[in-house]
Order: sequence, then C-alpha cells, then structure tokens
Amino acid sequence: MTTGGEVSMELTERISPTTRPRILILNAALAGAEGNTARWLEQARAELFAGAELDEVVLAGLGAETFASLESRLRAADGFWFATGTHWDGWSSPLQRFLEDATPAECTDIWLGKPAAVLVTEHSTGGKGVLSRLQGVLVTLGCAIPPCSGLVLAWSALLARRHDAEAAEDFWGADDLGIVAHNLLAAAGQRRLDWRVWPVDREDFKRVWAE
Ligand SMILES: Cc1cc2nc3c(=O)[nH]c(=O)nc-3n(C[C@H](O)[C@H](O)[C@H](O)COP(=O)(O)O)c2cc1C
Repeated sequence: MTTGGEVSMELTERISPTTRPRILILNAALAGAEGNTARWLEQARAELFAGAELDEVVLAGLGAETFASLESRLRAADGFWFATGTHWDGWSSPLQRFLEDATPAECTDIWLGKPAAVLVTEHSTGGKGVLSRLQGVLVTLGCAIPPCSGLVLAWSALLARRHDAEAAEDFWGADDLGIVAHNLLAAAGQRRLDWRVWPVDREDFKRVWAE
C-alpha cells in the first residue's frame, strides 16, 4: 500500500454491454502454458465458458505478457482469475514481477471493485499461505474477493483422494473449480458499486526513505 496523492477518481462502468462478463485468466505459473497449473486452468476455462467472454494470458516463458503489454486487456475485463504454483512457500517470480509492475495502477479502474478468483497449485505444502497472501494483495490493489473464490490444488490431496476418496472428501479438488467459476461469474455480473479509494502515491513510491 502507498500513501499520498489524489483521493477521488472517475470510475468506468464495469458491466459490458453484453450480459456475459469478460473474464481475464492470468496464468502466472512458472511452467507457463506447459505446466500443472495450465492443466487445471483448462478445466476452469471449461467451467467459465458458457457464462463469460474469456481472455487468457501467460506470464512466463518466451513472449510472455507483462503488466505494460496487458494494461488495456486488464482494463477491459470485468473480473480476473489468477493462477500460480507454489515456489518455496511463495507465488511464482513472474507473478511477483507482474504485481511489482502493477503498483502504479493500485486502486485505479483497472482493478477497482472487480472480482478476482485465485487458483494455487502445489505438491504438498505452503499453498494456502500463498492463496491467502495473494488474495490480500489483490484486495489492496483494488479487487473484490467473492466468497469461495480461491482454492489450492495439491498433488498430495490428489493422491489422498485416490487412496481413500471418502476420507479425503473435504480436501480441495478439481470439482471445486466449478464453485469458484460460479462465484467469480456471479460477482462479475453485479452492478458496479460506489467504491472509494484512499490516497495513493503514484509518483514517488520508489523513494529512498532510509536515513
Ligand atoms: C522451484 C520450485 C519450488 C517449489 N516449491 C514448492 C513448495 O514450496 N511447496 C509445494 O508444495 N510445492 C512446491 N513446488 C511444486 C509446485 O508448486 C507444483 O508442482 C506446481 O503445480 C507447479 O506449477 P506449474 O507446473 O504450473 O509451474 C515447487 C516447484 C518448483 C519448480
């Protein structure tokens, strides 16, 4: 979060002329279009397909998109689905770079009030921390987090389900992607609310402050 700067801003109308909200899927996984996260996103895309106009971008690999190259597509979206793997208890480096580059757009109409869903993949541990922290960052950027709109798909949970499906019933699984898709679409279709933003420094947020 940054401070200083203007308090009020013009908000653009969020709802598209069609009744299908525009959802931008941001695949920020380290392995990009070839990895585990991309495979689960294929399923998420299928869940969203009937109810949304879909746009999708990859943030890793050759020719990957950046915040700058994506600005107009981000602005055009009514909602977002962020996806990343877990890497040493954190999200991917391409996602970290994207969030750093997005800092000057904090609390602008690119994000303000737009719902954001999150998919985190992992082997076994650290993913829930990544999910909660990422949702926290997205809210601070200006997004809204709908109920039941973030999940962690873990290899360990997949193996547990195979071993004892009944005992592992409560673990997150691929079925839950449909719930997340539903809630993202429900939130993206809502009328824009009259959000306010606190002062944000867009000019000097990289200042050296140490004495
Ligand atoms: C460098 C690296 C670090 C990883 N760190 C973790 C970790 O801390 N916890 C975990 O459960 N899985 C970890 N994994 C496994 C990945 O999170 C998991 O395979 C994920 O699905 C990778 O997504 P991707 O194939 O879409 O990039 C790590 C994988 C790599 C390559």
